[in-house]
Amino acid sequence: MIKIAPSILSADFANLAEDIRRVSDAAYIHVDVMDGSFVPNLTIGAPVVKAIRPVTEQKLDVHLMIDRPVRYIGDFLAAGADLITVHVEADTPENITAALDAIRTGGAKAGLSLKPGTPFEVLLPWLDRLDLLLVMTVEPGFGGQKFMHDQVEKIARAEQLRRDRGYRYEISVDGGIAAGTILPAAAAGATVFVAGSAVFGSEDPNGMVNALAALARASSCREEEAWI
Ligand code: DX5
Ligand code: ZN
Repeated sequence: MIKIAPSILSADFANLAEDIRRVSDAAYIHVDVMDGSFVPNLTIGAPVVKAIRPVTEQKLDVHLMIDRPVRYIGDFLAAGADLITVHVEADTPENITAALDAIRTGGAKAGLSLKPGTPFEVLLPWLDRLDLLLVMTVEPGFGGQKFMHDQVEKIARAEQLRRDRGYRYEISVDGGIAAGTILPAAAAGATVFVAGSAVFGSEDPNGMVNALAALARASSCREEEAWI
C-alpha cells in the first residue's frame, strides 16, 4: 500500500495543527527531529510530538537525526510516536540494537535509516527486525534539497532482500520527493514517500498528497506487471 508522509519540517510551525489538517489524506505525518550535532540543523523534539498527538489520528512517523538516539526513545514513545526511525550512523551497533528493541518493546514500529554516503551493507544485521527501512535521498539536515538519483539503487536492494528473504519492513524514501522524482523511487520498491517542500509548498497540500500517491501507485503497478 502506497503511503505519503508529509514532513512538517516544511510546514508553518506557528500553525502546525492547521497545516496537519491540510494533509488529511496522508497516511503518516513525518516529524524530523534534529539535534545540531548528528546533522547541522536543530529542529524540534518530543514536546512537539506530544503537542500534535491530539490533533490527528494519522500515524506519527518520527525520524530521529540525533546522536545516541537510545537516550530519547522513552520520551518519543511517551509523546505518542507510532513509528520511530533511528540512524545507523548515530551510535555503536549495540546501542542501535538497544534503541530498536526499546522502540518495539514500547509498542511502536521500529525504523532504521542511512545517510547517502553509508553503504547499504551496514544495515544487514538489523533487517530481520525492522518495520521500516528509510532510504535518504538527500543529505539529512534540511528540506528542499535535490533528489539524489544514485540512492535509488539502495531502494531496489532493500526491496530485493525483502522479497527474497521475507522481511516485513516497509521501504520509505526521504528527500527531494516531488512529482518529478517519485516515479523511480516507486518503481524501485518504495511504498512510503516522505515529502516536505513539495507538499507544504503547494497551494493545495492535500491535492499534492493525492497526486503523489496516484503517481506512485501507477509506477509501482507497472513494476508488478513487469514481474508477472
Ligand atoms: C531531511 C529530512 C526530510 C526533509 C524532506 O533531513 O529528513 O524529511 O524534510 O524535505 P523535502 O521533501 O523538501 O526534501
Ligand atoms: Zn525525514
